[in-house]
Amino acid sequence: MTEKDFILKKTNTSKLNKGTFTWQSPSNIALVKYWGKSDPQIPKNPSISITLNNCHTSTTLEFSKKEIPTNDFNVQVIFEGNIKDAFKPKILNFFKRIEKYIPFITEYDFVIKTENSFPHSSGIASSASGMSALALCLMSIEKELNPEITPEYFKQKASFLARLGSGSAARSIEGELVVWGKHDQIKGSSDLYGIKFPYEIHSCFKNYQDTILLVDKGEKQVSSTLGHELMHNHPFAEQRFKQANENITKISKILQNGNLKAFVKLVESEALTLHAMMLTSDPYFILMKSNTLKIIEKICNFRKKTESNVCFTLDAGANIHVLFPEKEIEKVNTFILNELMGLCQNNQYICDKGGIGARQL
Ligand code: DP6
Repeated sequence: MTEKDFILKKTNTSKLNKGTFTWQSPSNIALVKYWGKSDPQIPKNPSISITLNNCHTSTTLEFSKKEIPTNDFNVQVIFEGNIKDAFKPKILNFFKRIEKYIPFITEYDFVIKTENSFPHSSGIASSASGMSALALCLMSIEKELNPEITPEYFKQKASFLARLGSGSAARSIEGELVVWGKHDQIKGSSDLYGIKFPYEIHSCFKNYQDTILLVDKGEKQVSSTLGHELMHNHPFAEQRFKQANENITKISKILQNGNLKAFVKLVESEALTLHAMMLTSDPYFILMKSNTLKIIEKICNFRKKTESNVCFTLDAGANIHVLFPEKEIEKVNTFILNELMGLCQNNQYICDKGGIGARQL
């Protein structure tokens, strides 16, 4: 598929005056990280993520034909029951980027009603789940206008559109593992959209657990979008992109052969490398907090003591994702309760696991 395959030809919208669609989209956590991009939202390296099950965004999109046609976008955003004008610029920017592919968006007035399953200020990024839910609602409109599109095209284009809203959102359409970004050894992979990991996954990775420790729920000082920009002219960027490509080759094998020790090593190294890129940017920035480091140390010690396969990963923030196989649930939960919970803000954490992707409500 090329970018041109996603352009919807001018369609007759006269039979579709109004309607409503609702989609629920999950968040995801990257194992090999996307950090660095070029225009328009093309990743500098491929990434792979676990689609989550419990952390998700539900979005209802109401649309009605504009009384007087205009060339601009008319959008109202309601977040958890309240009008949220602060979200508008990001959505208008998203609409500008995707107009070429779904030109009907200038013909309607939109009301977007959205809510998250996770606490509002938890430091969990909602851009992946939010943008993918919105992209899916827009694809439901396209399907009404153009009923012959296939389910496969529907998902690919939803991921393609979501990517233009937020890169990681491209990985929030399907589950349980999604690759986004072209890689020679991942069949069907593309820079334009995410695909389901195309090989059989070893049973030890089924229902993989992710407990998210809420270390710091405050607003980040540096957004991911700015962090990506700082990868331009970054002294270690090229080496990092090369390493991420190699790590995709490695993790693809690990996910198939079930080598948990190798998984732990690679995933933790990816998390620390992501933050190393932040620490060595110009200007540099630090998103980890002291409790992030304390928790990392405790996880490593616990693993040494118990032969557990628990490991950590991080996204662009201070929170820790504790990853472990389903069969270690009891042991790791006890460890989290006894040793890690006290290091979380207000003792808060969220139990999640691999999920199957978005669904229409
Ligand atoms: C550290 O997808 O949030 O979570 O494309 O600018 O919206 P934009 O950035 P975003 O970046 C995510 C970065 C990351 C790693 C990852 O999810 O792969």
